[in-house]
Amino acid sequence: MFITFEGIEGSGKSAMLELCRALLASLGRRTLQTREPGGSPLGVRLRELLLNVENSRIIPEAELFLYLADRAQHVREVIRPALETGLDVLSDRYADSTVVYQGYGRGLDIENLFQLNDLAVQGLWPDLTLVLDLEVETGLQRAIKRNRAQGLTEKEGRFEAEALDFHAKIRAGYRAWTERHPGRIKLVDATGSREEVFARIEPWLRGLMAGCP
Ligand code: TYD
Repeated sequence: MFITFEGIEGSGKSAMLELCRALLASLGRRTLQTREPGGSPLGVRLRELLLNVENSRIIPEAELFLYLADRAQHVREVIRPALETGLDVLSDRYADSTVVYQGYGRGLDIENLFQLNDLAVQGLWPDLTLVLDLEVETGLQRAIKRNRAQGLTEKEGRFEAEALDFHAKIRAGYRAWTERHPGRIKLVDATGSREEVFARIEPWLRGLMAGCP
């Protein structure tokens, strides 16, 4: 199974990914945990370029193709081989991030983005995508706190430094995109404790696992 985690900054994707990984392991499943950008050796270098504040003058189309390059490499080198050997793959962000950040956020055409992603991933879309949804202000406060704790205030802080209205567009974009793919993408209320949020996710996971080898 291929499961992706999406949402605005500070929505708790990595915490939920970890809890999902633990649940799958307890069911006897082998998992691979990964993320974008930066899920392959080439991707690590692209991530550095993409998230460095000094590159913030990058134009939207150039940014788009870097994310797509990261993803194409990630799918071919990491995700597909893992799925083929029977692992469940859990990714912190994937193609929906591009549709939402570069499309709803930066204003690039949504249909084009869908097609370009489809090309980059060779048709490999997740079995389940969880969008963690919460107030932009709450998410950003969490993200800023985490960045400070990790000493990332300058270098990796480009997105957190963007105006609040950009993040509001992202949240709205996730909600709109989710409505267009109700089968694959589930909107999860990300307010409350980790346990509370995970309790909302667990039924989707168990449902998915019940129907798979
Ligand atoms: P990351 O440090 O992974 O942030 P987060 O903790 O929010 O996941 O940074 C990823 C940033 O890159 C995030 O702000 C969203 C952005 N992004 C895009 O704009 N397009 C994409 O396709 C992807 C994968 C990420």
